[in-house]
Amino acid sequence: MQQELLHYNNKTFIPYIDSGKIISNIDSMALQINKDYAETEIYVLAVLNGAFMFTSDLLKRIHKNVIVNFVKLSSYSGSESTGEVKNILGLPDDIQGKSILILEDIIDTGLTIKSLLNQLEIMGAKKTKVASLFYKPSSSKTGYIPDYIGMEIGDDFIIGYGLDYNGYGRNLESIYKLR
Ligand code: IMP
Ligand code: MG
Repeated sequence: MQQELLHYNNKTFIPYIDSGKIISNIDSMALQINKDYAETEIYVLAVLNGAFMFTSDLLKRIHKNVIVNFVKLSSYSGSESTGEVKNILGLPDDIQGKSILILEDIIDTGLTIKSLLNQLEIMGAKKTKVASLFYKPSSSKTGYIPDYIGMEIGDDFIIGYGLDYNGYGRNLESIYKLR
């Protein structure tokens, strides 16, 4: 793992979770999903931008027929959740009656995921499960708990492996936290 400090704008980030640990958590999650899903086909909705690396590494380990679509929504600006949820872009129009697996990078307050789940229900999705790579139980305003969790973390702001601070840090292989 890289040990150096990272600076983006006026913030400093320190090494937190190495890539081996992330991958071993994704391995376990994939094992569980492969076991749980009796269906031969999984209809995945991955949430951009943050879930792109997670989606790639998780789906390589899923041994079912996978249909994957990417949706984009954003409730974040800077390092604090605004709680305000914007539009859902790229939602396919064939989700009626589908059993969906949503892939998220992180669940913090739970507001974003709840709004997405609501929308999907209104649009007639049959059953929706959520897999989140990271989960912050301490800051969950809504008490929402995803079906699959890669790792629980403290109430830290993290970047790397898809997650960003003002657009920076998504390309990092490991996770850093705000100092
Ligand atoms: P929530 O609505 O508060 O659950 O926030 C969910 C979204 O906020 C996630 O999908 C992320 O895009 C973003 N987010 C929450 N916590 C962090 C973090 O620690 N680092 C980077 N992005 C975060
Ligand atoms: Mg996100």
